[in-house]
Amino acid sequence: MTTDASPALTLLERSLDRLGERVCLVGHDGPMPHWPGRQLHALTTHYGVWEQAGGTAGGRLFGYDDPATPAAFDTIVVFMPKARSELAMRLAWAAPKLAPGGELWLVGAKREGIGRGSRQLQERFPGAYKMDNARHCQLWCAVPEAVVPPFRVEEWLEPVRVATPGAVLELFSLPGVFSEGRLDEGTRQLLETVTDKPADPALDLACGNGVIGAWLRHHWPGLTVTLADVHWQALRCAQAALNGEEGVSVVPSDGLSDITDRYASVFSNPPFHQGQKKNLDPINRWFSELSAFLEPGSEIRLVANAFLPYQDPLTLYIGPVRVFSDDGRYRVYSVTHSIHSRNGGN
Ligand SMILES: C[S@@+](CC[C@H](N)C(=O)[O-])C[C@H]1O[C@@H](n2cnc3c(N)ncnc32)[C@H](O)[C@@H]1O
Repeated sequence: MTTDASPALTLLERSLDRLGERVCLVGHDGPMPHWPGRQLHALTTHYGVWEQAGGTAGGRLFGYDDPATPAAFDTIVVFMPKARSELAMRLAWAAPKLAPGGELWLVGAKREGIGRGSRQLQERFPGAYKMDNARHCQLWCAVPEAVVPPFRVEEWLEPVRVATPGAVLELFSLPGVFSEGRLDEGTRQLLETVTDKPADPALDLACGNGVIGAWLRHHWPGLTVTLADVHWQALRCAQAALNGEEGVSVVPSDGLSDITDRYASVFSNPPFHQGQKKNLDPINRWFSELSAFLEPGSEIRLVANAFLPYQDPLTLYIGPVRVFSDDGRYRVYSVTHSIHSRNGGN
């Protein structure tokens, strides 16, 4: 049994005797439960979770097309995702991966939307029924029809045309990806400040669907660009839009965890979660680590909510800061790298 179990896991554990031998937990990012006699896998869309939990060797799968995914499972437990559209993708992924007679379970809390999730499950699998409920969580079960078409990520990648300053870009969207096919207002303001060809090579850090990298390549096709993100959907969208182009690479990275080269320019609309307790540790870590990946004199162009206190850490860890624009909501910074890295950098 799991000691630090979430309410959803605790509910699942009440039905352990019904759980098959080969089990996949889709969207469970916490510690792997200890359930004797079960071969457990857990699918995450967060590269950092995958990496820190031991990757493939730890039974973790990264995204919905990980080649390490076993051919079949006896029980697939789908955890409620944030985006309704991602639940549809999870169910479409899970159903064809079930062994004959296998069960698809859906678990989640009321505040995670299990009410609408169970309705979605019943629409997709009309025989679905509630197995259990406790601690404001519900557990549902469906037994899919015998033949379900295999999951293909290409069928979920939606082409989107995104109007950006000076260009309409052909990009892609996937359920759950940031901004789902629209141009973020902060990103628009960032792009509006870029008028001269950036120094080569460039890094699009936390690239989302790749809009910044694609925009840079549209305006300066010869520019070498690396796009990095932690999110599987973001990486697949960016790859669909740009990969295969000479001078472009798309890499999974949790912050700077898997960045290996040095860059002469960096662009970012870094992640920030409103409503959470103020915790600037992760972004300060990015700023403090960044100089090890910068050429001397390189420029970082960054957009952030204007109220975020980024100016001091940027100055401290990277170098002089210039505020390009500030409309009260978003602020675009340009930072010139002049601080020598503490970990063996310049
Ligand atoms: C505000 S969005 C910007 C996306 C895109 N650059 C744009 O302008 O539309 C922030 C991005 O940061 C990514 N992200 C969140 N945490 C991250 C991390 N630890 N490492 C890398 N990327 C991360 C998210 O997946 C998301 O794509």
